Amino acid sequence: MMHVLSVQQFKDKALLDKLFKRAAELQAMSPDLYPKILQHKTIATIFYEPSTRTRLSFEAAIQNLGASLISTENAGQFSSAAKGETIEDSTRTINAYADGIVMRHPEVGSVARAAEVSDVPVINAGDGAGEHPTQALLDMYSIRQGKGGFDGLTIAMVGDLMNGRTIHSLLPLLSLYKVNLALISPESLALQQNYLTDLDKAGINYRVINDWSDALAVVDVLYMTRVQKERFVNEADYNKVKNDFILTMEQVKQMKKDAIILHPLPRVNEIDTAVDADSRAYYFKQVKNGLFMRMALLDYVYSEK
Ligand code: CP
Repeated sequence: MMHVLSVQQFKDKALLDKLFKRAAELQAMSPDLYPKILQHKTIATIFYEPSTRTRLSFEAAIQNLGASLISTENAGQFSSAAKGETIEDSTRTINAYADGIVMRHPEVGSVARAAEVSDVPVINAGDGAGEHPTQALLDMYSIRQGKGGFDGLTIAMVGDLMNGRTIHSLLPLLSLYKVNLALISPESLALQQNYLTDLDKAGINYRVINDWSDALAVVDVLYMTRVQKERFVNEADYNKVKNDFILTMEQVKQMKKDAIILHPLPRVNEIDTAVDADSRAYYFKQVKNGLFMRMALLDYVYSEK
């Protein structure tokens, strides 16, 4: 029985290749041929934080693979957490009804706490500013799909690198390959030192910068992120940085013709909607890829002994 809590579990190129291959097979398949490997199972999605993509793509993936779905979409308010039930007791309760739990929670480490008491697989759908492992898997799949591989790519990560859990999960996977990174953020939202130390240990070539004017022309992948308003204690601090990096066609015109622009979404204003029509805009393909990568992941979790 396997939980999915961190990308550290996926720091294995052979395993990633297996997941990418399975996701691509599922993506190429007619929906009436999807394997019903989860038939007679029930999977619960329990989200204590808002979500559009992660919850709905998991719910579609679960049903595409033949399982029944039970769900609490606003668990902080509408589950018994609102009455003071602990995450451990809620998890033990869901174990009585479900063969798996997909969980998002605002506290770092909370999904791991649920996994400690769960007899069924628990999948981390985002724990605070900690990790978002399934997003990282679909981001990697999207980069491979859009650029054909990873080695030799120059990848810029832009925005809220301090609070962005998608960044925290994507970096360890990218570090398996010979990539060059530009880490671009307002100074107050710079990536924490522990992630830089890990990049050093992995021998990754990276630059930490607060200005993207020199970087745009050389990137193969531009990974934009939203400034995570919900992680700020003080709204004035958010207002100071919220508009520091806004991608408009003016910037996109400086980029390579074959670059791709990713964003885990939701966006607020950090990518101008005029960019959506440009051939380099890849973020809605990335959204679609989330469905197939989550189907591939469920297939892996429930086929491994
Ligand atoms: N990328 C992502 O996690 O989106 P949602 O918050 O909509 O799930």
